[in-house]
Amino acid sequence: MTAGNYKEALKDPVFNMISQAAQNINVDAYVIGGFVRDYLLQRGNKQDIDIVCIGSGIALAQEVKKLLPNSTKISTFKNYGTAMIKTDELELEFVGARKESYDRNSRNPVVEDGTLEDDQNRRDFTINAMAFSLQAENYGYLLDPFNGTDDLLSKVIKTPLDPDITYSDDPLRMLRAIRFASQLDFSIDPVSFESIKSNAERIKIITNERIVTELHKIIACDQPSHGFLLLEKSGLLELILPELTALKGIEEVEGQTHKDNFYHTLEVVDNISRHTDDIWLRWAALLHDIGKAPTKRFNKKVGWTFHGHEFKGSKMVYQLFKRLRMPLNDKMKFVQKLVRMSSRPIAVIDEAATDSAVRRLIHDAGEHIEQLMTLCEADITTKNLKRFKKYHSNFQKVRDKMVEVEERDHVRNFQPPVTGEEIMTTFQLKPCREIGIIKAAIKEAILDGDIPNEHDAAYALMLRKGKELGLKTA
Ligand code: CTP
Repeated sequence: MTAGNYKEALKDPVFNMISQAAQNINVDAYVIGGFVRDYLLQRGNKQDIDIVCIGSGIALAQEVKKLLPNSTKISTFKNYGTAMIKTDELELEFVGARKESYDRNSRNPVVEDGTLEDDQNRRDFTINAMAFSLQAENYGYLLDPFNGTDDLLSKVIKTPLDPDITYSDDPLRMLRAIRFASQLDFSIDPVSFESIKSNAERIKIITNERIVTELHKIIACDQPSHGFLLLEKSGLLELILPELTALKGIEEVEGQTHKDNFYHTLEVVDNISRHTDDIWLRWAALLHDIGKAPTKRFNKKVGWTFHGHEFKGSKMVYQLFKRLRMPLNDKMKFVQKLVRMSSRPIAVIDEAATDSAVRRLIHDAGEHIEQLMTLCEADITTKNLKRFKKYHSNFQKVRDKMVEVEERDHVRNFQPPVTGEEIMTTFQLKPCREIGIIKAAIKEAILDGDIPNEHDAAYALMLRKGKELGLKTA
């Protein structure tokens, strides 16, 4: 990885086209940022590509569009001086080189046209400030004024300017530094990290949407704990997700301690990330114990307890999503449900996995039973090998039992074997609460294993229950 020519990075015909368009309108253009970084890291093919030109980004985009099929979509954002072209495979973002400084009070950037160097200066990290030339005379040439290639080799995140300036210009970059460190398995330059610590409070001026985008990316990493540990050390986590930092620490009363639920949580998230890419399941792992901080009590007889933390935690999930302006939709409900049920499979093991406990678990988890089991297995973080093996083998037993019970009883997507209508016709009823009572009695009897999940048995129970309620058959 050296300065030099990287023509082979620009093999896609679209780059030639941009080069041609730039010539047509007599501006210099460069590929910059993530595409260059990822190419040098041999990190797959990046689909979103940033083009900077010394002139108007919008004019260049319009010229490029002329060379592409008529149907190609272009969006221009006059306020920002940017334009975006979407082709089938790529998203091309065009911007004019800028010399930018921020007005600290209004937070509005004061933008002036600039040179390529000016533009590189105001980018976030040395590894994101590298550019490939698109000029015919030095097509593919790497322009790397801050030795980003060296930083790629030594795996370090560093800002081109004094970090206090770079982070202050856009405080989201503090999160981005941590996100890139986590994604690329890099470290953050110590001076930069100190600057993040001292500027952490400025994250408050950033919109929740932008913050959440970075959080998602950290959670999606192979080892999310990398990012979360940095977030914690920098002081950012306390400001963004105080529910997690509240789990930190071990208390001791009368010689009794409990585990540090923060570090435990991070282990659970790393564990689950080896088994799933589902970002919402990973969120559930991250939040599964948040109810433990407010429910923690010490009791002389039993030591530390966290009674009802699952229920409390699921309520907190709603508050947290709302505060961060995350969608309050089925994803949120999924996370809530998993947090609320996060101790259930363990309870089933404690009840020696009786048929009825397993049936209830399958019924209550419904379509999310697999994810719940994955979460609970990831929750096993004991360092005692004997116990570790025992817990996993217990889980396997529950899984085997689940298959057996589900094959026989079909309670996963429970459909009552006797319908409300049948109850109404049998007893000549209009809609009333007795119908609900009978239906609930049938469901309970099936889940308890008192009757099989079959129509005739359920019908017989309906008749008995109706009699008890003083109902007459037609
Ligand atoms: N950039 C910046 N400051 C930001 C965001 C972006 O300086 N707060 C610059 C960087 O040069 C970055 C480029 O804009 O490389 C494009 O940003 P973005 O698309 O967000 O990131 P990528 O580097 O492309 O990486 P990824 O797609 O992984 O987010």
